Amino acid sequence: MKVRIIYCHPSKESYTYEILKQLKSNLKKEKLEYEISDLYAMDFKTDMTEEEYKREGLANTNLPIPNDVKDEHRKIEKADCLIFLYPVWWSDCPSKLKGWFDRVYSVGYAYGHKDSNQINKMKILKYGLVICTAGHPNKFLQEIGIAESMRNVMIDDRLGQRFENKEMVILGGTLDKEKVRPVHSEIINSIGEKIKEYCA
Ligand SMILES: Cc1cc2nc3c(=O)[nH]c(=O)nc-3n(C[C@H](O)[C@H](O)[C@H](O)COP(=O)(O)O)c2cc1C
Repeated sequence: MKVRIIYCHPSKESYTYEILKQLKSNLKKEKLEYEISDLYAMDFKTDMTEEEYKREGLANTNLPIPNDVKDEHRKIEKADCLIFLYPVWWSDCPSKLKGWFDRVYSVGYAYGHKDSNQINKMKILKYGLVICTAGHPNKFLQEIGIAESMRNVMIDDRLGQRFENKEMVILGGTLDKEKVRPVHSEIINSIGEKIKEYCA
């Protein structure tokens, strides 16, 4: 059972990094094998070049896929579970993660038609989990419809049919960390068990 965490935050002094540390220790406790793609630490390139656009935008699967994108495909193919961990910025993921989807969800791989001599289609993973920290409390994000819109975009569109089981956890209310930390810890400490259940 292999877990890949796609982590997106620029600072180790952040609450999101604190959550990453807790998540790692929960996965260790549950004896789950995991690897991390730290998008900022990797300096993952998230701007699409014109050449890439010609492949993606015009669905020309005869054009090459860049090597760094192929590396990400290989990581996905090795995993049973992907966890996306990031802070909510302007009601979505940071642009670095958005750019990961722009570039890594290549046409012919993550969607669209398959070209015979090009690449294989993305596997269907057992479990996709989205964890995001948010300044606003969950109740407020629900009231203003943002929780639902984030869920629609991340779960219904970006995870889509590529995962057998999908979930989104919003760790809201981080403006008052002392208040929300115990509840968030409890959620993070139950993740390893869920992975075992869904990836068994
Ligand atoms: C550029 C930026 C945009 C943000 N936009 C939102 C937002 O739209 N909704 C929200 O609830 N919190 C928002 N926040 C707050 C972050 O979600 C919050 O700081 C984060 O969850 C936890 O902080 P961390 O950066 O210490 O990990 C924003 C923060 C930044 C820096």
